[in-house]
Amino acid sequence: MKIAHISDTHFPQIIKESFDRTIEKINNSDIEFVIHTGDLVDRGYLREYEEAIQSFSKLKKPIIFVPGNHDGKNVGLKLFENLICPLNGVKEGKDYVVIYLNSVIPDMNEGRISNSSFLWLKETLRKHIDKEIKIVCFHHHLVPVPNTGRERNVLFNSGDVLDLLLKYGVNLVLNGHKHYPNVYKLEDLIIVNAGTMCSVKTRLGDKNSFNIIEIDDKIKVKTLRLDEIREREYERKKERIYNVNSEKLFRIVQIAGTYMDDSDIFNKKMFLNAFKKISTLNPDFVVHCGDIVNEGLNKNYTLAAKYLKTPIFFVPGPRDINYLGYSLFSKYFDFIETHATKKIAFKFLNSSQYDSNIGVIGRGELDRIKQFSRNPSEFKAIVLHHNLLPIENTREKGLLEDAGDILYELTRLKIDLVLTGHSSHPSARKIENTLVVNANSLSCKRQRSLFGNSFNIIDVYKDFIYVSEIQSLSGSRHVLGIWKRV
Ligand SMILES: [Fe+2]
Ligand SMILES: [Fe+2]
Repeated sequence: MKIAHISDTHFPQIIKESFDRTIEKINNSDIEFVIHTGDLVDRGYLREYEEAIQSFSKLKKPIIFVPGNHDGKNVGLKLFENLICPLNGVKEGKDYVVIYLNSVIPDMNEGRISNSSFLWLKETLRKHIDKEIKIVCFHHHLVPVPNTGRERNVLFNSGDVLDLLLKYGVNLVLNGHKHYPNVYKLEDLIIVNAGTMCSVKTRLGDKNSFNIIEIDDKIKVKTLRLDEIREREYERKKERIYNVNSEKLFRIVQIAGTYMDDSDIFNKKMFLNAFKKISTLNPDFVVHCGDIVNEGLNKNYTLAAKYLKTPIFFVPGPRDINYLGYSLFSKYFDFIETHATKKIAFKFLNSSQYDSNIGVIGRGELDRIKQFSRNPSEFKAIVLHHNLLPIENTREKGLLEDAGDILYELTRLKIDLVLTGHSSHPSARKIENTLVVNANSLSCKRQRSLFGNSFNIIDVYKDFIYVSEIQSLSGSRHVLGIWKRV
């Protein structure tokens, strides 16, 4: 099948030439149908909707529209429903299903798949589980997009939505909103963002663009700008046979959120059990992804220095540097920027800022990451506190403000592993060739996983990576995944 993916037309703020040229290209092609991923109009007014409808009457192919945040301004969603199409719906073919749904919170730029829409999506995916090709479309971006400035206006529950799409084997998710075209493969899911088809609101002086997506054994995404075509091609299923006799290279124990304190937020029993277990695991490296202490006070750092004695690499979380923490962190622990052996090179990043939950890496550090990627070690790992990918059971707030650019560069540079430690929920996902692993809190009473407090073991073999989560209290193991190394 072949579809066109257009987005963010923002009527009436259009460049007519871009609109007409795109419609003509689509009309004169073998495209089966078109999906518009939102921001059809700019302010949600009737006249804008009328102009959009009039202009789209030139299109000779069937089209699905999903609403965007701009369509929902000024009670625009009601007009959208009355004049365009229902907010949620399904288009079904012999082998495929397209599920489209509303992610708009009226008058807000941020998005959300509401509880009822989430349940409807789950039920609809369950109903169509046998369809070979499953496509889901909504306006707000699911994962951070590069070249769009500060990472914001995200889908509040993107962690849960991503988890659902992966569990139900969705092949393709189509998003708009950021006006910058981008494609990622996350596990077996292809995530496509469209640029703006014809609005004046492009980023970076970019040209208007749209995507043509062809699906057979492969998924091919072609981004067509004015004078340039960029193509990405992915296999639909990943190779799942691994060499079990592969040589083991090293073991990393990844911990986060120890929350040392004399209050009961720090669960000492949990901590001591976890560290007893860690000492039996013979790790080559122990990495702490931040929030060592509950608050950056001397009494907490004294506790931390007493308990965290094993050779450990640390990066600070926001809790470690508040109050006196910035000075205390370097007094009690060494912040090492890199550590390299023949087999592995680590780069440790401080993404935390004074008195703020919002993290940042910054452009200077990004240059140093580029230098680091040229390190001759066989395997490269980046360690930071803040999340690069949305985590389930938590509200996504875009806490790493340059996540779009950082994620893009780390995947482009083919960094093998990224370790993070925010959100108190474990997660391991491969995006492009980079495995991103998040650790739950090891000993904080506030955590979000039914498995309980835990830490991760990352075993790197010559041919694959095996990641499991170990419960802090009992030491029982839960496999997070196995990924082939390429
Ligand atoms: Fe837009
Ligand atoms: Fe938008």
